[in-house]
Amino acid sequence: MDKVIERVLFTEEQIKSRVAELGRQLSREYEGKDFVVMGVLRGGAVFCADLIRAIDIPLELSFIEASSYKDATTPQGDVWVSYSKDFTAAGKHILIAEDIIDTGHTLKAVKERLLKEGALSVKTCCILNKPSRRQANITADYVGFDIPDEFVVGYGLDYASKYRNLPYIGILSRKVYEK
Ligand code: IMP
Ligand code: MG
Repeated sequence: MDKVIERVLFTEEQIKSRVAELGRQLSREYEGKDFVVMGVLRGGAVFCADLIRAIDIPLELSFIEASSYKDATTPQGDVWVSYSKDFTAAGKHILIAEDIIDTGHTLKAVKERLLKEGALSVKTCCILNKPSRRQANITADYVGFDIPDEFVVGYGLDYASKYRNLPYIGILSRKVYEK
């Protein structure tokens, strides 16, 4: 798999130490609150699994599924969101754990949905942030790393459903998609 990577941006060790810092910060922030970490499927699952183990206060784990329709036939920003009927958002402080904030449409849709369901507060935590691509009026409350406008894979991020299992984050070689 390493062959499809043009350049490694963040190694496994760098990610681990940044996630540990975020975990310490979140443990202080949410101490004593009815706290939920909500991973966004599928890309946010890997980060979410590491993040919860870097947090040392009690929390509830849940997942939400979101995908954006980025083809030409649907308006930009149209995001499909689905979450478990067994989960109650009302009265809880929810932290969304996501792989990347790019245009921001996905996080905005997920956040609005959880607030509509009655969450007391909804904050967002992304391992990556591409600030130059933002369209929606939203900023992530917690960010692992800012990155330039490059297409990256690994640590949950995919290209055509592949490479999510790379333990590091790297720029995907253009050869892979400019065939
Ligand atoms: P947004 O709604 O544009 O912020 O899109 C966020 C989603 O787009 C993320 O959850 C990813 O699934 C996907 N995405 C954005 N940039 C990248 C990238 O560089 N690599 C892989 N997926 C990306
Ligand atoms: Mg995603």
